[in-house]
Amino acid sequence: MGFEKAWLNYRKNVGLAMRNYFTFVTYNKEDSIVKNAVFELKTAAKELFSIEMKSSFFDTILENINVSSGSNRKGIHLKICDDKELSTEGYRITSKEEMIRIEAFTSQGILYGTFDLIRSAILNIDAHTLNKRILPKNPLRMLNHWDNMDGSIERGYSGNSFFFEHGEVIVNERTKAYARLVSSVGINAVVINNVNVRGIATNLITNRYIDKLKQMGEIFAAYGIKLFLSLNFAAPMELGGLTTADPCEEAVCLWWKEAVQLLFKEIPSFGGFLVKADSEGRPGPFTYQRTHAQGANMLAEAVKPYGGLIIWRCFVYNCKQDWRDTKTDRARASYDNFQSLDGSFSENVILQVKNGPMDFQVREPVSPLFGGMKKTNLMLEVQIAQEYTGQQRHVCYLIPMFKDILKFRTYCKEENDTVLDIVSGNTYGNKNTGMAAVANTGTDENWTGHDLAAANLYGYGRLSFEPELTSEEIAKEWITLTYGTKEQAIDNITEILMISWPAYENYTSPLGIGWMVNPSHHYGPNVDGYEYDRWGTYHRADHKAIGVDRTKNGTGYTAQYHKPNEELYESVETCPEELLLFFHRIPYTYRLKSGKTLIQHIYDSHFEGVENVEEMIRLWETLKGELEEVPFHRVLLRLQEQLEHAKEWRDVICSYFYRKTAMEDEKGRKIY
Ligand code: GCU
Repeated sequence: MGFEKAWLNYRKNVGLAMRNYFTFVTYNKEDSIVKNAVFELKTAAKELFSIEMKSSFFDTILENINVSSGSNRKGIHLKICDDKELSTEGYRITSKEEMIRIEAFTSQGILYGTFDLIRSAILNIDAHTLNKRILPKNPLRMLNHWDNMDGSIERGYSGNSFFFEHGEVIVNERTKAYARLVSSVGINAVVINNVNVRGIATNLITNRYIDKLKQMGEIFAAYGIKLFLSLNFAAPMELGGLTTADPCEEAVCLWWKEAVQLLFKEIPSFGGFLVKADSEGRPGPFTYQRTHAQGANMLAEAVKPYGGLIIWRCFVYNCKQDWRDTKTDRARASYDNFQSLDGSFSENVILQVKNGPMDFQVREPVSPLFGGMKKTNLMLEVQIAQEYTGQQRHVCYLIPMFKDILKFRTYCKEENDTVLDIVSGNTYGNKNTGMAAVANTGTDENWTGHDLAAANLYGYGRLSFEPELTSEEIAKEWITLTYGTKEQAIDNITEILMISWPAYENYTSPLGIGWMVNPSHHYGPNVDGYEYDRWGTYHRADHKAIGVDRTKNGTGYTAQYHKPNEELYESVETCPEELLLFFHRIPYTYRLKSGKTLIQHIYDSHFEGVENVEEMIRLWETLKGELEEVPFHRVLLRLQEQLEHAKEWRDVICSYFYRKTAMEDEKGRKIY
């Protein structure tokens, strides 16, 4: 049905305004990336316009070629130039008379410019107006796959892994299809294995898998993508037979130096490692009374000769909390564990920080660590896998959430202090920074399980490249590329996507409290599912009030923010209401700014969430006949399932609070 190509499924005779340029292409550098740029133009020419595009090295083509398919001698120039301003994988597209020119300093820039041009053609942009210079904002634009070597995917909702199967590394047609897809939206780094490195996955860094990894690395490199692996901090013991993994032991340092050599020598585009240490049972430096800086720097030293990076995750917290303990606050943990280490990490270490202090909930404040580290490279980690946001069975377009996070002012400085400023390197002038997303792909034909979940993959890539794009712009691009140019479809699907995150928030957990999900698989409502457990994720609801006091009278978490954020969150009056229960313990009788009591807000928002999904279905149903039948029905089925689940959420949550408080719904609706 074409969904195996996702947004690269070019439709015949779309973008005709640029047709005549897609007759020949010249290029002045002949490496694997530029060759792929030429391949991409030829593919687009053929699929969009049925043109067999000609290509030639150097400009001589202008004289020699016999352009048969158009009256004008139009064409596309790919030109590596020495404009240093374009050195960070940027590109310039201009048009002059009969030529469209894509200029870049790097081959990656040429490739990104090429994908931009194809996109522009499909979006029917007039070639004569082409005049732009695009510099990707974030140096690293990464995907983290949580794929296991048995082929399963941790928190994967779209089939199995296409990187691993039965303990082996797979390289096949889909490897290239994947590289094309993610490179077309500007991804330049990929971690292929789960951050939880156990069992044979520990061996991925050894000789055993090197041939396949090398093949994969080559395919990725030709699309400008660096290959990364997650590693097991205890590998010197598990693989090397050492009695310790202490980062300050010389034998351990030596072991790592030797171990990493192989990958960097065999795979020229190998980027380095992602590390989950001292987190949820994974080994790390704490075992040896060493700091995270000591652990990360030891590895950084090993990869340094090859220009490698160590990406060290800050998802470190006590996952064996006693639920009776109200002093320990998981939200504080990342900051408490890392902030005092600011300035002690090596230049080639990047700390990867989850967007919020907890774990990818539908609503969380921005992690205070972003404002707290002034002398450390930071990366923002988001999750498009929708673990807690509907698991790719519910539509939940996350780009608006990511945009809110990126524009959040940390007040770490007087200006240039947003999360985007920090992770793009703008605030402190560092180069090893960027964004990572926990990926949502698998072996499902359409890559992402739900057809509409592909908007998050597309959107994440586009946003990390050009964060100034709006959520609507990104949505419209993706819809046009995926479903075609019909206006009604573009309008309605944009609306569905834009409603979806607030809708999900409405019918699930209220006002930033989070969780309330079934333990372990995290799908569906279960208000007390985690309440008496060890994970530090409590709502503390009783018959009078709900929420966690994280002010200075409570856990003191608010103090991790710079003023004025600290003060904003500290006071019930100024705290943004969508985060009210995250920061404060509030009686059900409290009146919100809307004039509603808290309990009434809980009832109303849950009924509203269901209505939002009904509206999404209505918008989709009006597209019957406008879209191809099979994908139309596939999405409709998922939306209907979403509606059933939204009702389940509404009824479980409303009944829970009704029974707990015995407070009537003012509107007298059915609550069980
Ligand atoms: C969540 C998720 C885990 C994952 C962890 C992580 O807790 O449920 O499956 O391993 O995040 O980010 O490391």
